[in-house]
Amino acid sequence: MHLETRSIHVGREIDPTTGAVAPPIHLSTTFERDADGGFSRGYFYTRPDNPNRRALEQCLAALEGGADATAYASGSAASFAVFNLLRPGDHVIAPIEAYHGTNQQLRDLCRPLGIETTFVDLTNPDAVRAAFTERTRLVWIETPSNPMLNITDIETIVGLSHDRGALVCCDNTFATPVWQRPLEQGADLVMHSSTKYFGGHSDAMGGVVIVRERGEVAERLRAFQAIAGAVPSPFDCWLIRRSLTTLSCRVRAQTENAHRLAEFLSGHPQVERVFYPGLESHPHHIVARHQMKGGFGAMLSFCVRGDEQAAFAVAARTRLFIRATSLGGVESLIEHRASIEGPHSVTPRNLLRLSVGLEHVDDLIADLDSALRAIE
Ligand SMILES: Cc1ncc(COP(=O)(O)O)c(C=O)c1O
Repeated sequence: MHLETRSIHVGREIDPTTGAVAPPIHLSTTFERDADGGFSRGYFYTRPDNPNRRALEQCLAALEGGADATAYASGSAASFAVFNLLRPGDHVIAPIEAYHGTNQQLRDLCRPLGIETTFVDLTNPDAVRAAFTERTRLVWIETPSNPMLNITDIETIVGLSHDRGALVCCDNTFATPVWQRPLEQGADLVMHSSTKYFGGHSDAMGGVVIVRERGEVAERLRAFQAIAGAVPSPFDCWLIRRSLTTLSCRVRAQTENAHRLAEFLSGHPQVERVFYPGLESHPHHIVARHQMKGGFGAMLSFCVRGDEQAAFAVAARTRLFIRATSLGGVESLIEHRASIEGPHSVTPRNLLRLSVGLEHVDDLIADLDSALRAIE
């Protein structure tokens, strides 16, 4: 079954009691038990399991081609669930340049627990090879990366990691399974901020970890989800499950817009450099073309000709691009990343990140053009 069909039908059965085509929202936190104390209808309390969450998890596992999925209250709760698989003394390899909150978890939450991380350039396999220690248990990939759209060769890193007994988890938030399915390339786990393209409308928070196989890792994630309790509400699960039905259409149309914008910005006199893996000038374009199936996503960044103030001036002058954090929604957003990433940021000070939405691309081009021309 194709992704589009799965996104509509998996975990979205007709309601057996009413025949409703759109699924109901099960807000109940508790469920009646059988006379013998069992729960033959499948649920007893919403923290460990809820019908809306189960439907969402089944669909997300199917979209990524995984065996199972565990959903969380945010992408950050999902990444921390993966880090909780580690034990004191374990070692992680993670990208220097990635979503800053993930690296912050490794620095501020994992290090005090005795879990050390080496941050390397994941696009350089030699650097990754050199970073392994006897205690390396996990390699974290984020591709394309946030915000510089670096591309890590998933198959190569999986090969290196599995030879040395380490698990590989890939943050697939930017690409989405529409363009990239890391489990098919050998990754053990895929993680998403569902707040982004899965939710797609900037109105629901969530995260998910999808496992390639059932087994001990899957069971530990399931146990952590229930015990730590950072679970998404039934309403957020319902919203995200509903949005998945249009995931492919949205991501394809947004990607088309982003590609056109990247080409436009590449030729603009006020732009120093564009970061978009779909451009042949991107340093990892060949790898991206191999592992991303037909599209390069709807995120891009660019450096304004000038300094940080010039970048702020451009973001201050857009009318359609909204100055706001986050990404993946139907509305286009613009953000100066370096100023919000904190002291470990490696993002150029004149870089602006765009989350490209579903507006007409000519309007988006005109908006950026007038903002850029105002700083000439
Ligand atoms: C690539 C990536 N991963 C993870 C996260 C964290 O997700 P959340 O904000 O849902 O916790 C984000 C948030 O921006 C992100 O961009």
